[in-house]
Amino acid sequence: MIQLVVGAKKLCTPIGNKPRSGQDMSRLEVFNNVYVSIEDGIIVDISTSKPRDFVRFLEADLVVPGFVDCHTHIPFYGFRENDFLKRVGGATYLQLHSSGGGLFETVEKVRKASERELVRFNLKFLREFLKKGVTTLECKSGYGLDRESELKQLRIIRALSRVVPQDIVATFLGAHAVPKDVDEAEYINQLIDMLDEVRDYTEYVDIFCEVGAFSVESARTFLSKAAEKGFRLRVHADEISNIGASKLAAELKAVSADHLIKVDEEAIDMLSRSGTIAVLMPATSFHLNEAYAPARALIDSNVLVAIASDFNPGSSPTLEPSFVMHLAVRHLKMTPEEVLTGFTLNAACVLNLADRLGTIEVGKQADLLLYDDADLLTLPYLVGLRPRVVIKRGQVFEN
Ligand code: NIG
Ligand code: FE
Repeated sequence: MIQLVVGAKKLCTPIGNKPRSGQDMSRLEVFNNVYVSIEDGIIVDISTSKPRDFVRFLEADLVVPGFVDCHTHIPFYGFRENDFLKRVGGATYLQLHSSGGGLFETVEKVRKASERELVRFNLKFLREFLKKGVTTLECKSGYGLDRESELKQLRIIRALSRVVPQDIVATFLGAHAVPKDVDEAEYINQLIDMLDEVRDYTEYVDIFCEVGAFSVESARTFLSKAAEKGFRLRVHADEISNIGASKLAAELKAVSADHLIKVDEEAIDMLSRSGTIAVLMPATSFHLNEAYAPARALIDSNVLVAIASDFNPGSSPTLEPSFVMHLAVRHLKMTPEEVLTGFTLNAACVLNLADRLGTIEVGKQADLLLYDDADLLTLPYLVGLRPRVVIKRGQVFEN
């Protein structure tokens, strides 16, 4: 007997295991009046006739795949409300950063926090994201900036992933900033020395390649070494200034180049050829009061595009996926179809999980969002809209 059947008046999903680019980002599969059968957390059938025998039946007006947030800075500790006020008063992100505030404040707090406190503080964000439809996410280190505290963050990510239903992919972002009183080249060497230990926790590394953080040369040294050791590469690129980080990401065939607010045409062309996924995070532009990434130029040039929250206490205090989708339509000028693909399949590809999630297809994990009184356009339109039911690997969570 089938364990769970979901009846959908309308079901919208991208299809496949490969990231979609250009016009294909808008090509969703749309089914009307279908029944999704789920067994052992896996989709076993999608059909227009209702199965006869099942244990549980749920119905909804709209069903879409669970959201995949492929760029967050969970776990962190404490907030930075004062940064927010200072920015409202005209201070820039880099001013706060170079005066020793900004993310360095979070580093201090994370270093001091116990593992128990870190788990408690961050668990609520993951629970909140689940209610709002984020069934898979990425979590980064990067607020330790020394061996011990970076490994502590990676352990926290592992601990969190064991207690929440979501799939969590960890990333090593030891190269988030040059710690105070440490030489940049010396710190890069320390990070390279950590890679073998880090491998137990993740296959991803990331670096903040930016004025005031790491130079392109440092990033090249670190990323090349990590690639040699078999890591998958991600880069915080062209967020606040363009120093050539997205070109480096393309050249090194990084999995993703993230932010791209200041990306130029030459880099767009290189990204379209390297297969690097552009992870766009409009909530960061919103909070920093910055320009928005040129999503249309990227999509129209066939660059693969995903969207994410960048949830962190500084540049993106955004616990609201519907707000990210809203900004993606409003400011990135993406269509609701592109937004869905960017927040499901393409994001799953960034995390190398698309063979088992990111779309609604037979054989994939049953990660589904059920909405009432909603169509696809309602998702980015109604900021704060939550699914009535979130299904993660067949497990049902009702809001
Ligand atoms: O993606 N830019 C670097 N890292 C984050 C911000 C982290 C922080 O400010 O705490 C970002 O914007
Ligand atoms: Fe980030």
